[in-house]
Amino acid sequence: MLAPDTDLHDWLVEIRRDFHRHPELSWKEHRTSQRVHQILAEFGLEPRPVLETGVVADLPGPPGLPVVALRSDLDALPIQEETDLPFASVNDGIMHACGHDGHASMLLGAASLLSRESELPAPVRLIFQPAEEIGSGARAMIGEGVLDDVALIFGGHLDRHYPTGTLVVTDGVVNASTDSFKIVVNGRGGHAARPHEAVDAVVVGSLMVMAIQTIVSREVNPAFPSVVSVGRFEAGSAYNVIAASAVLQGTIRAQHPAVRSHLKESIHRIADSVATLHGAELEIELSEGSPPLENRPEPTGLAREAARRVVGPENVIRLEHANLGAEDFSNFVERVPGCYIRYGAQVAGREGFPAHSSKFDFDEDALATGATWLAEVAKVAGRAVAARSTDLTGDGASR
Ligand code: NI
Repeated sequence: MLAPDTDLHDWLVEIRRDFHRHPELSWKEHRTSQRVHQILAEFGLEPRPVLETGVVADLPGPPGLPVVALRSDLDALPIQEETDLPFASVNDGIMHACGHDGHASMLLGAASLLSRESELPAPVRLIFQPAEEIGSGARAMIGEGVLDDVALIFGGHLDRHYPTGTLVVTDGVVNASTDSFKIVVNGRGGHAARPHEAVDAVVVGSLMVMAIQTIVSREVNPAFPSVVSVGRFEAGSAYNVIAASAVLQGTIRAQHPAVRSHLKESIHRIADSVATLHGAELEIELSEGSPPLENRPEPTGLAREAARRVVGPENVIRLEHANLGAEDFSNFVERVPGCYIRYGAQVAGREGFPAHSSKFDFDEDALATGATWLAEVAKVAGRAVAARSTDLTGDGASR
């Protein structure tokens, strides 16, 4: 196990608290990205802005080798913080309730550790990505070329389900796809006492909500986890008026691409049929989100090797069950192989406050572990990348 570095710990806590106090929403991470830029420059790196609020910095390795990338997100959520933390958010209605303040400071910690190395086995790219929470940041950064020359990519998320000091490394699909839908039911308004003269959008919309629930329970193989949730249902203007229209909005989650397309088709079919059944008109919009996040075997092996070095083999664990949350890191690993892990960060007595809750917090002792793992995986993966390219060019020792 690598010795814990108390200076690193204290420094990371200070940076995390600064980010936590000043949270910024997706695509508005101006102060955060300026701080990131400034700190990277202090390490002698040459950070460059990408889009409005992203930052990328390269650490050189031997020339001609492909790059190992490390990624953190930066954004906060539109939530009013209700913790009693001394470093609680000063920005009204905005909170780092998902731990991206921690992720950003960890990647800065890794930058600090890696910039102290005299020589890296392969070049390393640090990607500070905006707008993870709304699922558009990764795709936009990829569009700006941040994956050019990248062979492998790694990242992680704080997770208060697992004890601090553990690293959760899992093969295969670790996050679900996410797509959203909006259905507008157009009926015919009328007097609440004369329903026969109207087409009641509340009744049609309600039947639609219930019918949609049968997709996962009756149409999808239960061996493949999936979810359809209607999170918003809006209709009506008064208690004695039949609503002319209703708006339903929801999310679709799946771990398997075939299930993902089945869910989308079924929502169309069922919504159409229920509307026809009751003589209502329908508008339906489906918005494509992120794909499922799949950890491929080779990078997962490298992530696990780095994790064992950092926390010892006994503290490297696996996800206990499927996770239907989404993470836009999936857009990166769709293009280059990578691995997304979880940093155990349980605060004793505070397990009850999940991510995206107004009382969310995590154990800051996880920061140094995460930063050390990021730096370590860059080196472990860098050696793998270097060995592979030596084999390919035929400069290898004995082959
Ligand atoms: Ni998050």
